[in-house]
Amino acid sequence: MKKVGIIGVGAYLPAKVLSNADLEKMVDTSDEWITTRTGIKERRLVGPNEAASDLAIKAAQQALKDARLEAKDLDLIIVASVTPDMQFPSVACILQNGLGAKSAICFDISAACAGFVYAVIIARQFIAMGSCKNALIVGSEVLSSVTDWQDRNTCVLFGDGAGAAVLAPVKSGGIISGYLGSDGSKVGLLFIPGGGSRQPATHQSIDSRQHYLKMEGNELFKLAVKIMSQAAQVALKQAGLECSDVDLVIPHQANIRILMAVAKKLGLPKEKIYLNIEKYGNMSSASTAVALCEAVREGRIKKGNVVLLDAFGAGLVWGACVIKW
Ligand SMILES: CC(C)(COP(=O)(O)OP(=O)(O)OC[C@H]1O[C@@H](n2cnc3c(N)ncnc32)[C@H](O)[C@@H]1OP(=O)(O)O)[C@@H](O)C(=O)NCCC(=O)NCCS
Repeated sequence: MKKVGIIGVGAYLPAKVLSNADLEKMVDTSDEWITTRTGIKERRLVGPNEAASDLAIKAAQQALKDARLEAKDLDLIIVASVTPDMQFPSVACILQNGLGAKSAICFDISAACAGFVYAVIIARQFIAMGSCKNALIVGSEVLSSVTDWQDRNTCVLFGDGAGAAVLAPVKSGGIISGYLGSDGSKVGLLFIPGGGSRQPATHQSIDSRQHYLKMEGNELFKLAVKIMSQAAQVALKQAGLECSDVDLVIPHQANIRILMAVAKKLGLPKEKIYLNIEKYGNMSSASTAVALCEAVREGRIKKGNVVLLDAFGAGLVWGACVIKW
């Protein structure tokens, strides 16, 4: 099997900033509550007529440039999103057309906040087996389109954005382990009831706010700590490494308290956990992708470093992978 690595990264955050002070004017909340309970200070929101594929294209163009690859030479495009432009066709097909990546196989995956890690591992398999020479993977979300702006329990948590990466064979290092898991018995902890085949849109479904996401925050918090810690340990074991070998963890950014609890369980200092939740909130599949891109650009990831991606989300789904940079 070929060694596969990440050879380019990109990110795009829409310009509009929604601060905690702005939210104080919308629901009964405070900057103090949001900051201490979540670590979030502000988040980005799309402008009018801006959809997941519009964010994806900008992140993808940067990743292709970084990888020194032309869109026409792409073999595979995978987009992870729970907020696609429309039910079908896929964001990946819309992105293909926008990029001019005529030779690429294109599909979306639905793995919520773990979507980018799922995409890394799926793309790695295609390349390692020799069915594709390269792959563009993107996490792109417009969570503001499914956020209930009257619900203070959830509206303070989420934001919009996109991150991308290009994968290709590498001579040394690369993705050295990948672990994915799912637990469909916990569907009801985070979901959008309306808009699918079970509850298509009706006047009544819209009036009763069924098209917005619903969440059991407390239960998810406990599961996220437990599962992200376990996933990290499994991926490290598969790679033959210890927690102490990790140079930087790129986690899904759901809540700073979740991440500090995971760091404690793994025995890692907080400096080894990359954080950007303060600026963007939880961007589901885009969170890990944007964090990876920013960590590379800030020089937090250097050649030879051991990087651990670790994510958890609705489904439940989770994934972790170890990359030797
Ligand atoms: C949502 C979350 C921040 C809530 O934090 P918490 O410390 O568990 O807070 P609780 O839910 O216990 O709520 C405490 C109180 O704050 C209130 N509250 C909730 N949202 C609030 C807000 N935005 N502003 C002010 N008060 C708020 C609650 O109503 C509750 O009041 P009560 O005690 O009078 O009933 C936290 O549970 C969390 O982050 N969970 C994980 C969510 C997640 O990661 N989801 C995505 C998974 S990928």
